[in-house]
Amino acid sequence: MATFKLNINNRTHTVDVDANTPLLWVLRDVIGLTGTKFGCGIAQCGACTVHLNGDAVRSCVLPVSAVGDGEVITIEGLSKNGDHPVQKAWEEVDVMQCGYCQAGQIMSAAALLKKNPNPNDEQIFTAMNGNICRCGTYTRIREAIKKAATL
Ligand code: FES
Ligand code: FES
Repeated sequence: MATFKLNINNRTHTVDVDANTPLLWVLRDVIGLTGTKFGCGIAQCGACTVHLNGDAVRSCVLPVSAVGDGEVITIEGLSKNGDHPVQKAWEEVDVMQCGYCQAGQIMSAAALLKKNPNPNDEQIFTAMNGNICRCGTYTRIREAIKKAATL
């Protein structure tokens, strides 16, 4: 066990965990931020996506010891009132079906738009390629990203 001071959603959290513990399990089981989901555990589905210093990362394969003093943002911290442009667009387009993948989809989309405020289809495809949706909401996700770019 080791002690880590993590900057999550602009708050400092001190946790005592094994250094190899994936950030996902620290978020969910230690801190209680359960919006970030477990899908595959091997960086293949995107359900566990969070931001680390603004980049979309797979928290299921990121050891907590690799986070350092980096700024972690989860779906709970993306906006104060669920009113990030991506969240608003997601609602307007009614993207969600079962919802399981959607926190990860939204975090990947928000990271994309921060770096590229007006992405074309190919850029959206490339950025979102690693986020799997078993309900097949891909068309609405693309539409919502384009809408979010206008908000
Ligand atoms: S749970 Fe992390 S990519 Fe699937
Ligand atoms: S909305 Fe069901 S898995 Fe994506």
